[in-house]
Amino acid sequence: MRLGREQVLRELELLPMWKLKQAALQTKAVPQVAAEPASVAEALPEASALPSIMEPSSEDRNASIAQMDWQALQSCVSHCEACVLSQTRTQTVFGVGNPNAEWMFIGEAPGMEEDQQGVPFVGQAGHLLDNMLLAMALQRGQNVYISNILKCRPPENCDPHRGEITQCAPYLQRQVALIKPRLIIALGRVAAQSLLNTQENVADLRGKQHVYQDVPVIVTYHPAYLLRNLPDKAKAWDDLCYANSVMQGLKSGVSS
Ligand code: URA
Repeated sequence: MRLGREQVLRELELLPMWKLKQAALQTKAVPQVAAEPASVAEALPEASALPSIMEPSSEDRNASIAQMDWQALQSCVSHCEACVLSQTRTQTVFGVGNPNAEWMFIGEAPGMEEDQQGVPFVGQAGHLLDNMLLAMALQRGQNVYISNILKCRPPENCDPHRGEITQCAPYLQRQVALIKPRLIIALGRVAAQSLLNTQENVADLRGKQHVYQDVPVIVTYHPAYLLRNLPDKAKAWDDLCYANSVMQGLKSGVSS
């Protein structure tokens, strides 16, 4: 039995596609000679439904961020739309302090006040962090740079999602590469686990030297946690004394 044209197309499951092309032909003037598509977007009639094809791969994005100078990085962060947090933020929070600092403190993510002011650690936790710095004879803006794992506030201050951390990671990597701090202090579980790519908790990570991008890292409790768990302030103080002794060792070329 000979099948008709429509039956063949149906058997090959080509009929809906054929109809689509017909519809396209009806709405577009058809050039005599098919022009080369000027872009992949033109070649793919439904390209808008495939944004991942049109966007630079994450490798391209990471490589381009890894080349940026400080100003370009700041501007790139301020326009970032790589994750959903860009839709709810008031503004990005890049970091604060001396970009040539020897000390770098890294927290989790901006909270409500940070989101409004565009500066990290300005709320109650920030006040405690400033006091911790003072106790170490440090001051924000002098020999210290303060930043966060995430540059945008997660709504309701919920824990950052893995995808958000992944999208934001190249920014912090570049900040660390440009600042070249002697020592990083990871403040709290999210900062420590993200930097060190581990599931271990703060209690287990404290009191040891770890490494992030060749820079020694010391882990301590997050100031917001300390505000809720006052007895652990003594442990945080131990951590800061340990950090001070590591810094002295780094400066004198002796590692502890
Ligand atoms: N908590 C953080 O981890 N970072 C901030 O900037 C503020 C609060």
